[in-house]
Order: sequence, then C-alpha cells, then structure tokens
Amino acid sequence: MAKMWAGRFSKEIDETVNAFNSSISFDGRMYRHDIQGSIAHATMLGDCGIISKNDSLLIIDGLKGILADIDNGSLQLDPSAEDIHMFVEAELTKRLGDVGKRLHTSRSRNDQVAVDIRLCLRDEIDEIYKLVKQLAVTIYNLALQHTETIMPGYTHLQRAQPITFAHHLLAYDWMLIRDMQRLQDTRKRMNFCPLGSGALAGTTYHTDRKQTSSLLGFTAPMPNSLDGVSDRDFCVELNCALSLIMTHLSRFSEEIIMWCSWEFKFIELDDAYATGSSIMPQKKNPDITELIRGKTGRVNGDLVTLLTMLKGLPLAYNKDMQEDKEAIFDAIDNVKLCVKTFTPMLATMRVIKDNMRKAAAKGFINATDCADYLVKKGMPFRDAYKITGTLVALCIEKNLTLETLPLEQYRKMSELFSDDVYNAISLETCVRERKSEGGPSPDAVAEQLALVAQQLGI
Ligand code: ARG
Repeated sequence: MAKMWAGRFSKEIDETVNAFNSSISFDGRMYRHDIQGSIAHATMLGDCGIISKNDSLLIIDGLKGILADIDNGSLQLDPSAEDIHMFVEAELTKRLGDVGKRLHTSRSRNDQVAVDIRLCLRDEIDEIYKLVKQLAVTIYNLALQHTETIMPGYTHLQRAQPITFAHHLLAYDWMLIRDMQRLQDTRKRMNFCPLGSGALAGTTYHTDRKQTSSLLGFTAPMPNSLDGVSDRDFCVELNCALSLIMTHLSRFSEEIIMWCSWEFKFIELDDAYATGSSIMPQKKNPDITELIRGKTGRVNGDLVTLLTMLKGLPLAYNKDMQEDKEAIFDAIDNVKLCVKTFTPMLATMRVIKDNMRKAAAKGFINATDCADYLVKKGMPFRDAYKITGTLVALCIEKNLTLETLPLEQYRKMSELFSDDVYNAISLETCVRERKSEGGPSPDAVAEQLALVAQQLGI
C-alpha cells in the first residue's frame, strides 16, 4: 500500500523496514476504538465548521460501514498497513474519495493513538474489574461455608495459631477488593482526553476539545498538548495494578499447590481443573496454579518493559512508545486468562475439613492460649510464656500434646493450673475466643463477611 506520507519521499519503503515499523499486528485489536475516536473527531469538525456538515455526515457513515464490515469479517485488516489508524483512513478514502481525505484535518496520529489506547484500556479495565469481582464473590461464597472449619494458621510456614478456613479465604478477598479499587482509581486518573493535542502543539483550527472529550465519555480534555501525546503513565499504572492482581493470585496458587500435596491434603482439585502425568499414572497435578505463578513473572516483565521504554524519552511523541501496546496487552490478556481459570477452579475444589482439623491438632498451635490462660489468672505474660515453653518441651519429650498432658504435670509448673485448662486450650475455644476485631472467631468472621459483602455490593 502506498504510504500517506509518500509525498516527501522519492522511493518506496524497504519491505523489511515496513514490517519492522508496522504495528497493525498488535494495534489492529483497537479498530473499534480508533473508529469511535474518528467519529467523535469528524462530528466536532462538522459542528465547528472546519469541514462541511455534509462531509462530516458522509465520513461518520463511512466509518460506521467500515466498523460493521470489520466486525462481520467482510473487511480484513491489511497486515502490510503501517498501523490501524492508517488502515482505517485509507479504507475510508477508498470508499469516499476526497471526502475521506478530510478526516485527518486538525489531528495527528500522535493524539489519535493516545486517545485510542485510553478508550481501549478503559474497556479492558471494566472487563477485568468484573472478572476480579466474580473471583472475590466466589471466595466469599466459599468462606460462608467454612466459618467453623478449623485449620492451622502459619507463620514461616510453621503451624502457629488456630484459624478458620473462612478467615484464611477472606484475607484474599481484601487483597482483591484493593485490586478492584486500584483498577477504578487508574481508570479515573486516565480518563482525560488527549484528542486535539495534534502532533504535539495543538492546532490553529477553532476546534472544540470539550465536545470530543464528552462525546467519548472522558472527564475533560488534557490541559497540555505535549503531555497529551506523550503520557503513558496510565499504562504503567494499569500494569502495576495487574502485577498486584497476579501477585495475589500467585500467592494463593502457591498455597493451593501445597494444600493439594499429600503432605497437606487440605483440598482436592476437581478433575476438570487438574492434569495428569505422561509417565506416572498416579499423578494429579495442579498445573493451573503453577502456570499462574509462572505468568506472574511475565506480567511483571511487561511492567519493566513499560517503565524502561518510557525512561529517558524526551518530549513529546517518540516511536519507542509504540512498544507500549504489546506489553500492556500481554499483561491484560494474561490476567484475564488467569482469573477466568482460577475462579471456577476454586469454586469446584473439594475442601477436606478433616485433614485441616488434624493438622491443627498437631504442632502445639494452642500454646499461646495456654500462656494466656495463666495470664488471665494473674501471671505476667513473660512468666506464663516461659512455663508454657517448658510444658511444650516436656510434651515433645513424652510424645504428648498439651491436651493429653496430665494435670499434675501442669501443676508442677504452676499452681494456677486447674481442670479448666483443657477447655481453655481446646481448638474450638482457641478459635471461638479470638474474637478481637478482624480475628478468626466465627463471630468476628461474621462481621468481616458483612464488610466484604458491602464492599462487593452483594
Ligand atoms: N503506531 C503508532 C504508535 O503506536 C502510531 C503513532 C505514530 N506516530 C508517528 N508520529 N509516527 O505509536
């Protein structure tokens, strides 16, 4: 295809350079947004009398026809076109002749691409927001069923204190709620319109930037034309939000990988969400979660690509910025894939409560409660801590647990111990009594569930 900028050149572009320069293979996916932006621009040109009303209407009609034809597959994107903007404009001119050539009045591809990508990312954010919300709701529903399911809570991956599975699950919901807020926040900050910035220095035509901005659903026009064409902060910000979503999925994935090992066996994945081995007939592998953990590196890589691409770029537009799209689209596509797979995997997994309970019964996770028992009878915490530590050592030596250690052994260490110690250190009591705000007791978790429901609007 002959270049629109061919006037200044005496030769056609080298084929390899054309392929190297072209972005249509990855910006083609923005065709809807490109046409949406062009329709707003043509409307404004007509309303401001920069082109005739009639030409404006013909252009809008032509653009709508192109959109319909790409949508229904009768018009294919030309892979040799320089980018989606050139492709649509050339197609318009093919269809309308000279009228089509008026569309690009008072516009540059620099403000055009800046508006396209914002429109495109805005839609993607809305979709990802919905997917993350679905995941958060799935976790909430699972938590509702497990407010009494006792499991060990860990620090350093060592059994630490008893919690419930609901409490553990809800920790992830709070991460996802923050993820949703970050998406909304990014959307709000990026929702300003660069159209009308021109190549870099605005335009001499009497345009109405407020009109195009509001036609496209932006809050307001961007106040500086240089910033308008050269800002890609929103790509970085969105990629940060996506990297954090992946970080949360990856941490959860790691736990699921451990939980479905024979060493834990807290859960069993549904057969539809696990894979087998080519040689070991007994295997059932949690590949989904491992891939999510792996893809987190890739999404973080996209973030580094964007930050590195922008660092050191002089104002205003530079072609380096064309590299923004593959990175942010890769991050978007992978996050969507991961969330879409993770959600039904969680919804269908089997929770093996018995094994959680058994694990909680081992490892002296009620030792803090034993010390607290003495404190509540008047002993200073440090003394109580020391006595309990000695009792734990004694249990390990005699292969006993705090629940099975005879009362006389307790009383040898302190007269404050009496029969009620066994009730105080039972796992049920330990969990029930941890009713501080944000704690794992069923009462505290009921309050937490209400807060999560409120945040999720369910
Ligand atoms: N394909 C280009 C990009 O994605 C569009 C803008 C081109 N502008 C230019 N001055 N060459 O950045």
